[in-house]
Amino acid sequence: MFEKILFPTDFSECAGKSVEYIIKLREADAKEVIILHVVDDSALGDMVKFSKKAGFDPDEFKRDVLGDIIQDRERAAEADRSRFEGAGLKTTVRIEFGKPSREICRMAEDEKVSLIVMGAQGRGRISSMLLGSVSEGTMRNSRVPVLIVR
Ligand SMILES: Nc1ncnc2c1ncn2[C@@H]1O[C@H](COP(=O)(O)OP(=O)(O)OP(=O)(O)O)[C@@H](O)[C@H]1O
Ligand SMILES: [Mg+2]
Repeated sequence: MFEKILFPTDFSECAGKSVEYIIKLREADAKEVIILHVVDDSALGDMVKFSKKAGFDPDEFKRDVLGDIIQDRERAAEADRSRFEGAGLKTTVRIEFGKPSREICRMAEDEKVSLIVMGAQGRGRISSMLLGSVSEGTMRNSRVPVLIVR
């Protein structure tokens, strides 16, 4: 029933709680996981702008910095990747730039996943909030079922 699962993560403790649920979903036929991290690019425009002011070539700056960010996030995803693979789930890691909830919903559709599993909160924790903005935005806009892990 849930063969292909999308796991959006900000590498927070709360997102990490989804990992064990996804592994349990093997009992519901889970075979494949996509680990997705979205680099929120709302701050990148300013960084590029000010890199010019600081005397850097914007294109070079973008290439270097974005390359480093991708590498850093890919490394951060390794622990979860090996847990999934150790449990026999085929796993891929995707790093995208953009608005997180939008990119999550887009990938869910493009990859035709059967379920999104994610945390209720993340790194920007204001603990009185029931849902963070990324999980709320995903729930509002997703066409596939979303499992929120508290
Ligand atoms: N940049 C991201 N890329 C992929 N998944 C993310 C990203 N940010 C959050 N998530 C997913 O969404 C879940 C909820 O995080 P969210 O960001 O909504 O909460 P928060 O950080 O507490 O609140 P806010 O970001 O609104 O301050 C996380 O546990 C994770 O599964
Ligand atoms: Mg957040």
